[in-house]
Amino acid sequence: MNYPTRRPRRLRLNSVIRGMVEENHLEIKNFIYPLFVVEGKEIKKEIPSMPGQHQFSLDKLSYEIQEISKLQIPAVLLFGIPSYKDETGSEAWNPDGIIQKAIKIIKKENPELLVITDVCLCEYTSHGHCGVIEKNGMVNNDKTLDLLAREAVSHADAGADMIAPSDMMDGRVGRIRTELDSRGFQNIPILAYSVKYASAFYGPFREAAESTPQFGDRKGYQMNPANSREAVLESDLDIEEGADILMVKPALAYMDVIQKIKEKFNLPLACYNVSGEYAMVKAAAQKGWIDEKRVVLEILTGLKRAGADLIISYHAKEAAVWLKEGTANLKFEQKPDRSELKPVKIKV
Ligand code: PBG
Repeated sequence: MNYPTRRPRRLRLNSVIRGMVEENHLEIKNFIYPLFVVEGKEIKKEIPSMPGQHQFSLDKLSYEIQEISKLQIPAVLLFGIPSYKDETGSEAWNPDGIIQKAIKIIKKENPELLVITDVCLCEYTSHGHCGVIEKNGMVNNDKTLDLLAREAVSHADAGADMIAPSDMMDGRVGRIRTELDSRGFQNIPILAYSVKYASAFYGPFREAAESTPQFGDRKGYQMNPANSREAVLESDLDIEEGADILMVKPALAYMDVIQKIKEKFNLPLACYNVSGEYAMVKAAAQKGWIDEKRVVLEILTGLKRAGADLIISYHAKEAAVWLKEGTANLKFEQKPDRSELKPVKIKV
């Protein structure tokens, strides 16, 4: 009988050894939690396709912010749902708009919680597209840039800490950077949705943000899921234009892209574990088909392993609870069970 001389299983013998040689660590400080805010009062409305996620009216926001802060999640990503929509999405830069008011409330509740705002027009336009629509139904790139820049400045004015453009217009990072700089916001970083695919995984989000396009689709501006070299091109351009952090979105069907962008570029990398990815896990968990906690932690760890430094996820709150429980348990487990360490007797 030929016995193996190399035995990787030795380092899987017990939880202490496994912990010592663990290569990637999931940490709460890398989480970003998305939040949906709506006009109105007394609203905490669950999004049917995203169990556990809600639309909040501003008067219901404080408690949620306290919870996020207690869990030590460092940042939120804000999405606003206005009650008034028009062709150009003018509510997006209203100084008294939903996002602008929400930023102030969050900052009052916890000035240290980093507020990142999604800059896009689809939640604000009557047609649900991410920019200005031409007669032929196409989104006009350059006219849209002016509006996005206005929106970004308005978020910064209201106190946003970081700007995250998600529209996929060409040149928007550069345009927003120039505009922010000229208004004295040189220190506000841009988290660019650099690599954003035209994905079916955004379905539940569009229900949450009430931003489904009224005609056509977003394939004229978001990327083709079949492409990966194009992800490098988009990232290159965003870096040239002044992006501070890159993003790949969605996450799970694009882990090869996460890895590629991480290897090619030296900027921090975020990934967006999107609504459809969340919905699938929740649905299977509700049916009792998967162990939700283990599946969620495995997914998030996988994203880290693929190369994401930051993870935007609707799972962030529950994952934070589980990670905290994990460290609490560790205190009791510090004394390893010696019996596990006993050499295995092999009969020759
Ligand atoms: C806005 C935007 C979308 C998402 C984030 N920002 C929707 C879209 O592009 O249609 C999707 C997020 C998610 O699915 O969780 N453009």
